[in-house]
Order: sequence, then structure tokens, then C-alpha cells
Amino acid sequence: MAPNFEGKKVKVGVLGATGTVGQRFIVLLSEHPFFVLHALGASQRSAGKAYSKVVAWKQVRAIPHVVRDMVIQECKPEHFSECSVVFSGLDADVAGNIEAAFREAELAVFSNAKNFRRDPHVPLIVPLVNTSHYSIIQQQQQLHSPPLKKGFIVTNANCSTTGFVVPLAALEKAFGPIESCMITTMQAISGAGYPGIPSLDILDNVVPYISGEEEKMEWETLKILGGISTEDDGKKSFDMHSKQPLRISASCNRVPVLEGHTECVSVRFAKRPPPSPQQVREAFQAYTSDAYAMGCPSAPRHTVYVHEEPDRPQPRLDRDFQLGAGVCVGRVRECRVLDIKFVVMANNVAIGAATSSIINAEFALLKGYVA
Ligand SMILES: NC(=O)c1ccc[n+]([C@@H]2O[C@H](COP(=O)([O-])OP(=O)(O)OC[C@H]3O[C@@H](n4cnc5c(N)ncnc54)[C@H](OP(=O)(O)O)[C@@H]3O)[C@@H](O)[C@H]2O)c1
Repeated sequence: MAPNFEGKKVKVGVLGATGTVGQRFIVLLSEHPFFVLHALGASQRSAGKAYSKVVAWKQVRAIPHVVRDMVIQECKPEHFSECSVVFSGLDADVAGNIEAAFREAELAVFSNAKNFRRDPHVPLIVPLVNTSHYSIIQQQQQLHSPPLKKGFIVTNANCSTTGFVVPLAALEKAFGPIESCMITTMQAISGAGYPGIPSLDILDNVVPYISGEEEKMEWETLKILGGISTEDDGKKSFDMHSKQPLRISASCNRVPVLEGHTECVSVRFAKRPPPSPQQVREAFQAYTSDAYAMGCPSAPRHTVYVHEEPDRPQPRLDRDFQLGAGVCVGRVRECRVLDIKFVVMANNVAIGAATSSIINAEFALLKGYVA
């Protein structure tokens, strides 16, 4: 049972509050049982103005009352001094220095940007998969100069990585290491932020290139699915799945869908003979997250929802299931080249971005990492 924080909710800020991910943060945090929105940050273009006057609001529901008249601040820690936590939906061009400054000012930073994902002391946490990686936070704080008491950075993964590591984690939990994996994505245009790709480039079209995306998927997956090893001197490091090398080949495409990344995945298991499609379906259904078990209120009951219909999942029909907090799979079948193939669909702005950060923060709060 989740604790009740009513009356003493944790004050939080949103950096990049006007953007695609920032708006989703605002929707999700405006009625949150643990957190209360206290400060909003964006660029100098927006700072000093009321939120409703500058935001190009693109959500289905109206701007929450609580933020309509809130004045946007520059992304400087002094404007967020009453907050314990900030959620970052900042553009990667600026996220690095700003997030580092907030950590230095002893705030807990939950970031969607790529800047710290490769940092050897910053965990890259998909909350339905690897909350155990929180164990590196203390080292991050101790190695900081000067050492930190409360400040840290946790990142979540690229939106296309997130959808596909969840079923992979379920398979590794049930059947042991995966040896190789081929993946082809069909990614929604909201994944590129607002205003994103011009309509004349994407309508009636498929763009078979997203800069840097394939490399991110191939690298981030190893950090997320790998473990943390501890040396004799107590120093921890990410093992990048090196005990059982995992080869991944990703092909990324942009398609004219608003929200929800669909991905076709084929895997080969180390285990011989490999599991049957039915055993794989059962493993997906049985998989649950530590975040849900801990009582994180935004964690979905169905971590991996398995569709039996031959033409599902589909982004338009399935992206809002469980508020987009889980992933949907379907078409689980034998692969004649590797072992098993299936389709996964994940909401790129929910579990692919804001919802992941929020579950990460809920978990950190329940575990006592947020002071
Ligand atoms: N969209 C997705 O599905 C998705 C998924 C996972 C991760 N991400 C990552 O999340 C981050 C945000 O993505 P997005 O799609 O929300 O982008 P976006 O719509 O372009 O929003 C960017 C935000 O950054 C702010 N910003 C820009 N320059 C700034 C500056 N110099 N100082 C302070 N704030 C500044 C913008 O504020 P102004 O309005 O004032 O310019 C805006 O609030 C990116 O790092 C992206 O890679 C996105």
C-alpha cells in the first residue's frame, strides 16, 4: 500500500515545462499523490511570463488550473530552492550544464535528456526494468566535488529504447541471457519534440533515418539490462551485459503517427532449445516490476500487456491503455532466422519519457533517496 503524502507533498519543479515532455509532466504531476508542482522553468524566451501565455499547449485535456498563472522561471537553481526534486524535459543542447547545476545545488534531478546517460556514475533507469541501479547513487554523490548529501541525477532512456528493453527484461528473467536481437522501429513524430519534423516531410511518407537513434538503442540497452559489479575496493561500475555479450542491430524509422512507437523485434536466446512462443507469451504476462510491487502509484499493473488479436498492438488503439505507463506486445511467433519475434508498442511521451521519470522519482522517494 502506497504511503499517503497528503498535506506534506514533496515540492517539485519542471525544467523545459513548455515542451512536449514538459507538458506531459504537468498533466501527470498536477494531481499526484506524492508531489506538488511548485516551479516551472524554460528558456529566456518564456521566462517571466505566465505559463498559459507562452506554452503551445498540445494535450487533449486543458491546461491544469494550478499552472495556468504560474510564472515561468529561467532554469537556475535559485528559482527552485524550495523544491527537493526537478523533472527535466530540457533540450539536449542545454540540459548538460543546467542539470549539473541543479545537482550541485543538492536537488534530485530526473532527466529525459541524453547528456548524462553515458556517465559512469549516473544510472540509466527504465523503472519497469532496472531500479536496482539506484545502488550507484551514493557513489555518484561521494565522487562529486564537493561530495553531495542530497543532489543526484537519474536519467531515463531514449523513448525507443524504453519500449523494447521491457519485454527483453521479461525474457531474460524467464529464460536467461539473450544472445542477439534485431529491431526495426516505426517511431511517432512527437518523439522529435515540438514543432518537430515539417508536415511536408512526414505526411504520406516514411523517413528511414533518425539521427543518433540506432546507436542510442544499441548502447543504452546494454547499460540497462546489464548489472553493476563491485571491485575489491568497493567501487561500483556498470557491466554493460559483458558477462553474456548481447549483440543488437537497430533500424529506426519515423512514420506519420502522433504518439506511440511501434517496434518489430526478433531475438535469439543463449538457452537451447529456445522457449516456444507460448512460453514467451506466459513470461511476458508473468513479468511485474519492482516499482509496482513497491507501491509506486504511476507504475502500471500490467507491465507487459499481451494482445492475442493478430493485428495488435496499434498506436492509435493502445497508446492510452494504463495512461501509457506499460508496454503492449503482440504477434508473438517463431522466427525462422533467430528464435522468436514479436511486436511491441510503447507510448513515447508517457513510459518513453515523463511517466518513466515520475515512477523513478516515486521509487526514489519510497526508498529514501529523496530527502
Ligand atoms: N518527445 C519525446 O517523445 C521524448 C522522449 C524521450 C526523451 N525525450 C528528450 O526529452 C527532452 C525534451 O524533449 P521534447 O520533445 O519535450 O522537446 P521540446 O518540445 O523541443 O521542448 C524543449 C524544452 O526545452 C526548453 N529549452 C530550450 N532551450 C532552452 C534553454 N536555453 N534554457 C532553458 N530551457 C530551454 C524549451 O523551452 P522554450 O519553450 O522556452 O523554448 C522547452 O520547454 C529532449 O532532451 C529529448 O531528447 C523526448
